[in-house]
Amino acid sequence: MNILIIGSGGREHALARTLLQSSQVERVVCIPGNGGTASTAGCQNIEIEVEDFEAIARTAIDQKISLIVVGPELPLSLGITDYLQQHNLTVFGPAREGAQIESSKAWAKALMQAANIPTATAAVFEDPAAAKAFVSDRGAPIVIKADGLAAGKGVTVATSVEQANNAIDAAFGGKFGKAGERVVIEECLKGEEVSILALSDGTTIRPLLSARDHKRIGEGDTGENTGGMGAYAPAPIVTPDLMNRIETEILVPAIKEMSDRGIIYRGVLYAGLMITPTGDPNVIEFNCRFGDPETQAILPLLETPLEDLLLATATGTLHKLPPIQWRRGTSACVVMAAGGYPGTYEEGNPITGIDSAEALGAIVFQAGTKLQRQQLLTDGGRVLGVTAVGETSDRAFASAYTAVECIQFAGRYYRRDIGDRIRTKI
Ligand code: AMP
Ligand code: GLY
Repeated sequence: MNILIIGSGGREHALARTLLQSSQVERVVCIPGNGGTASTAGCQNIEIEVEDFEAIARTAIDQKISLIVVGPELPLSLGITDYLQQHNLTVFGPAREGAQIESSKAWAKALMQAANIPTATAAVFEDPAAAKAFVSDRGAPIVIKADGLAAGKGVTVATSVEQANNAIDAAFGGKFGKAGERVVIEECLKGEEVSILALSDGTTIRPLLSARDHKRIGEGDTGENTGGMGAYAPAPIVTPDLMNRIETEILVPAIKEMSDRGIIYRGVLYAGLMITPTGDPNVIEFNCRFGDPETQAILPLLETPLEDLLLATATGTLHKLPPIQWRRGTSACVVMAAGGYPGTYEEGNPITGIDSAEALGAIVFQAGTKLQRQQLLTDGGRVLGVTAVGETSDRAFASAYTAVECIQFAGRYYRRDIGDRIRTKI
């Protein structure tokens, strides 16, 4: 079977490599892909904008594609699934209505409230004066969120009223374009964050292994938010009991509430959760796609053929599949970024040492890279996701960090404390 992947990140390279491990998958086409997908055997990049649905549909038909997997949220929120399905193509990823769970935080909050899903109390504002009056009444800490998609940069966890007011001014002042014309202001939750990515075919839900992302740029979870600087799976805080609660209190009600509204949600429902000090799961956000870097950590532990899971999700037949099988152990992913990210950074710097890192047993997923005249160059903020599996978390992280040391590019930056919480302190 031939599979088309839309996107160009580490998540998409991880999906491509995992799919190509199966003898059932002949070819993977990536639109537009990156340096990693360009140099993976069996994988081919085609340069088309992810918003050019017409060209994507034509390519899928020409290339005899059996399944299209949509990586990023933007094309999903623009209705790529609706468009491609109209051309009788099989698509993994929710239609536009369902994608609102990520593309409008106000919509998602109203859905959670209607379904009684535990989440921070919140109010929605379309006017800065009313928003500021609410903040002055509630005080800090308080969280200000642009309603729409803002590439992970639309959230401010404000520790003072002044910081909250600045975030309100920035959003209404146009910092996030249309995404900031409405803001959601919510209670600041305390606890430990985890990511639960679940497959949903609209009726049946199959959670993947739990994962933990590290969103801040600086060690000790300091500095600006990023797309994610590293991840591990599974997250030990998610015991089988807690996973049951997450399913019954969060995932099932969310899918059911959408189904009651006529939305058949097919794809990944990603729940970003705060596990409070009392052990209760609360939703911070929902995403309508695979998390990145979480997916880079989760997929190396997957034993069930990925194409079986994706096809069953896309066609509404998840209930027919046996339970998902996982390897034992921990998977650790350390993101190597370009110095300056998430602010400005250089591109076009040569990358060396990936072969040496992989010779040690690590898997190097590529994100912001491009292949130019056989040379691999940096081409984005998050450049690589260096992943290793180990029987214990100490071993997984030791292998991942040893592999990181093999890889060089000008200005490389990575956090040395990914997974500290589950590593032995010495
Ligand atoms: P989001 O883009 O909604 O995932 O938010 C980015 C980050 O902001 C999250 O990963 C959390 O670390 C933090 N955050 C968002 N909402 C809250 C909240 N209600 N309480 C505490 N932290 C939050
Ligand atoms: N790693 C966070 C996200 O994918 O949204």
